[in-house]
Amino acid sequence: MNSDNLQKAFSLAISHIQKGMVLGLGSGSTVNLFIDELAKAKLNFDIDCIVPASEATKAKLLSHNFNVVDLNSVDVDLYIDSCDEFNSLKELIKGGGGALTREKIIASSAKQFICIAGNSKFVDVFGKFPIAVEVISMARGLVARKLLSMGGNPSLRHEYITDNGNIIIDVHGLDLSNVELLEKEINNIPGVVETGIFSSIKPSKIIIIDENENRLLE
Ligand code: A5P
Repeated sequence: MNSDNLQKAFSLAISHIQKGMVLGLGSGSTVNLFIDELAKAKLNFDIDCIVPASEATKAKLLSHNFNVVDLNSVDVDLYIDSCDEFNSLKELIKGGGGALTREKIIASSAKQFICIAGNSKFVDVFGKFPIAVEVISMARGLVARKLLSMGGNPSLRHEYITDNGNIIIDVHGLDLSNVELLEKEINNIPGVVETGIFSSIKPSKIIIIDENENRLLE
């Protein structure tokens, strides 16, 4: 990835932050780099507080002395995150890092959601990445059988427990031609906490980091 363009993408996202805003931040390598950039940014105000979507993001924010708060005590104005895949409708596949549930909760609560993603994450049709499903452990077998009956090929994410104390089932092979419907169907299975399909909740803007010139999908 062209590091100048990565920097430009971060600067564009940072330009959306205004004095007094409560910020929400997702999780993953892009967000980690973004936090480093945010710490260096010369804003003419201090960022009041940030709601992190994972314990890893929280630790990273604290290492830069940002004020970290719980979602229950604030309303988020702007949520910034990345994704594993995105399409031209700004639908996302997320959850590679396992933080999908908290990411979706914060994204859904925010007044604005901006995604930053390299152009290699753009797809015409989803499917390169498995669909991550966070599941309450006791429902593992039930949910896996249901996903099988839906045409999927579920596999338990090995030795992985989410920040919420749940397991992740990664599913390949599902029909992804209508992810809006699929998101609802998976979320309707008892025992499912959340899925990594972000169709009902999606960003208003995607800042696409390109090799040549960055683009904005809005
Ligand atoms: C975390 O659960 C994921 O949704 C991440 O937001 C997503 O996988 C992007 O991660 P990277 O920035 O590491 O590619």
